[in-house]
Amino acid sequence: MTVLASLTPQKGLRILITAGAGGIGQAIARGYAETGARVHISDIDKAAVQAVTGGAITGSVANAADEIETKALFDEARDRMGGLDVVIANAGVAGPTGSVRDISQAEWDQCLEINLRGAYLAARFGESDLKANKGLFIAMASVAGRLPYAFRTPYAASKWGVVGLAKSLAAELGPDGVRSNAILPGIVKGPRIDKVIQARADQVGVSFEKMREEYLSKVSLRRMVTAEDIAAMCLFLSSPGGSNVSGQAISVCGGVETL
Ligand SMILES: NC(=O)c1ccc[n+]([C@@H]2O[C@H](COP(=O)([O-])OP(=O)(O)OC[C@H]3O[C@@H](n4cnc5c(N)ncnc54)[C@H](O)[C@@H]3O)[C@@H](O)[C@H]2O)c1
Repeated sequence: MTVLASLTPQKGLRILITAGAGGIGQAIARGYAETGARVHISDIDKAAVQAVTGGAITGSVANAADEIETKALFDEARDRMGGLDVVIANAGVAGPTGSVRDISQAEWDQCLEINLRGAYLAARFGESDLKANKGLFIAMASVAGRLPYAFRTPYAASKWGVVGLAKSLAAELGPDGVRSNAILPGIVKGPRIDKVIQARADQVGVSFEKMREEYLSKVSLRRMVTAEDIAAMCLFLSSPGGSNVSGQAISVCGGVETL
């Protein structure tokens, strides 16, 4: 196989992506579908699942933080595709913006439940397929999983946890031929980051534009990344050329220096 050919995933991979009906997850689903993969997505938004599914992409409505719904999701995906080669624990919410003293336990728990428990449940219910197929687990973390992030403590804590989960799984399942990595997106263009920037702008009392400028001033390339940039990294990790990458926390962020 040439090096160039090694950069394409083999056709027919079976992929499960949580929160795949919008944002980054949807871009990943579409990226895999282009390679001839079969993709099963989950999402809590039923209308969004209906809008995204069709052709190579099937879907279920499931809350990534819910044990019973996640088990049912994996059973359905396994039934539809006959097994799983790649599991992407993508579901995650931004959580609250504010001083640790003002963050309620309910807000803290909700962020940790979706971001960290969700990734654990995907690993738990995907483990047997990953072992059987020498598969790949990808956990969607964030650059907030390698940097301190003032006023976003639940989010940062959850994403540092997600990185720990992905690295530990690489060690636990590596002897069975399973790879596990975390991807750490930076500031991804789209409505979600606009909301985060607006929340911080409101907190500090400056305009959205001023806060956006401040966010970008901390990125070496002075620009946002796209959901498709994250999808491209998933495809690389699923390709023969990525077959020796495991236990890593890989930033796709344009060089975020601080948060
Ligand atoms: N957008 C960014 O700038 C950014 C940066 C770094 C990391 N990330 C991470 O990337 C992942 C995807 O982020 P995104 O920006 O695409 O998110 P998003 O807010 O655009 O949401 C994507 C999808 O998640 C679904 N969803 C929300 N809660 C869910 C739940 N409990 N169970 C199932 N589905 C749920 C939504 O319905 C939506 O369709 C997250 O883990 C996020 O933390 C995002």
